[in-house]
Amino acid sequence: MSEQSSQTTEADSLDGFVRVASVAEVPDPSRKVFEVEERFVVVFHVLGEWHALDDCCTHDGGLLGEGDLEGFTIICPRHGARFDIRTGAAKTMPAVHATAYHEVKVVGEDVYIRLTPS
Ligand code: FES
Repeated sequence: MSEQSSQTTEADSLDGFVRVASVAEVPDPSRKVFEVEERFVVVFHVLGEWHALDDCCTHDGGLLGEGDLEGFTIICPRHGARFDIRTGAAKTMPAVHATAYHEVKVVGEDVYIRLTPS
């Protein structure tokens, strides 16, 4: 479990979307890790866009939420693979597979995500 910012989510849901945070908790640009239905997810707020990925590098399980963020790219802190936060796609070795992308929507001051099945 990531220490930096993991939180238990509230039980609110909407069409499969689960509230994870208030907008103010994830200022632009930043990212924050949340536990959603026993899964750790990184929520990104960058250049006005919201995205969410599994907090898990597909190379060897690095915690993406602890990586450096460069624009729409998150860099795995373990071996440096880069992922596009807008899709989850692996952009560079040593990762070759995408990490799961989750839909995000903002309603008022609340941020919701809908998990992609694992
Ligand atoms: S665990 Fe992420 S690059 Fe190796």
